[in-house]
Amino acid sequence: MNTLRTSTITGWGHYAPERVLTNADLEKIVDTSDEWIQSRSGIRERHIVGPDEHTSTMSVAAARQAMERAGVTADDLDLILVATSTPDYLTPPVSSQVQDLLGAHRAGAMALVVGCTGFVYAVVSAHQFIAAGAARTVLVVGAETISRNLDWTDRTTCVLFGDGAGAIVMQASDEPGAGVQSFVLGSDGSGAEHLIQPSGGTRTPPSADTIAAGDNYLRMNGREVFKFATTKMSESLVQVMDEAGITADDIDLFVPHQANARIIEYAAKKGGIPMEKVVMNVDRYGNTSAASIPIALSEAFEAGRVKPGATLALVGFGAGLTWAACLFQLAAEPVATETPQNAGAVEGWIA
Ligand code: ACO
Repeated sequence: MNTLRTSTITGWGHYAPERVLTNADLEKIVDTSDEWIQSRSGIRERHIVGPDEHTSTMSVAAARQAMERAGVTADDLDLILVATSTPDYLTPPVSSQVQDLLGAHRAGAMALVVGCTGFVYAVVSAHQFIAAGAARTVLVVGAETISRNLDWTDRTTCVLFGDGAGAIVMQASDEPGAGVQSFVLGSDGSGAEHLIQPSGGTRTPPSADTIAAGDNYLRMNGREVFKFATTKMSESLVQVMDEAGITADDIDLFVPHQANARIIEYAAKKGGIPMEKVVMNVDRYGNTSAASIPIALSEAFEAGRVKPGATLALVGFGAGLTWAACLFQLAAEPVATETPQNAGAVEGWIA
């Protein structure tokens, strides 16, 4: 007998630092223009962390919102997954700081380092834990403090990125068909050099020389990443639709990685998804890497764009090079964990 469980999303939240950096602000820092940035990427402004904000603290702010909406407490969490490439420290993993700050003493915690693709990898992983009966309530976070890894004299990167965090609570559901319908997890390490922070790991530890060369900053071959992104985003979207045996008409909302409006528009067109079904907020956040999909998803929930039973297409790409797509069907009925504290708390979950 098949004993696999299904999963659904019961809570969502996001956090962006208060400080906003506009394209006009950037014009004063590097040789660029609002016109160039908007026409090439669709970005108007991005949020940048203050001195006391970190990947851990932003994760916790987003997580608290998501947990409150789901009606779960820290004690209900079985597992915490944090997707990020900009942790507070290389060691220890930021997931443990998030676990500690939340007071989630029962929960296992791990970080996933898969570039901008990390959140989709994490959602697919969370579903597997739930489906196998190994976890009932999983907190999935995507968070980045990318501004601290940028070379603010390099106009080819610093205009594109921003900081922030998004989180969802995924819980076991008894509804047949809910959760991840189909997925693709992809990787092509031969493209590593196209998006890389050359120093800071163990291969080239930081030294006076690496710092002088700026090798501790993120470097990107924009044209190569653009070609890769347009191809993989549309290919993997079509692949998950084929695998699930559905068409673009069956998708209620396409929530792509927010790197560039042109890449999103291209992928939507190739996948046959009209722009009214696409969530796009890259104009206000820039590329927040692994945080971009959960922030976009959280905003879509807040705006009432995600209905119970909806089918979502989540598609990401990024450093690695990596890509991932999943079709996620929400349960028609919200599911509460079996704790007295939150009995009934998820009623009216669609705000
Ligand atoms: N302002 C003004 N001019 C600029 C700027 C800038 N900020 N940056 C580059 N330019 C110049 C270049 O020097 C170049 O000049 P040249 O022709 O004299 O050499 C010219 O503009 C055109 O540069 P291109 O790189 O060809 O511009 P393109 O149209 O390809 O757009 C962009 C660049 C926006 C970076 C695009 O390639 C892109 O979006 N790539 C994908 C990036 C991406 O998605 N990265 C995230 C990956 S996810 C992750 O894991 C982090």
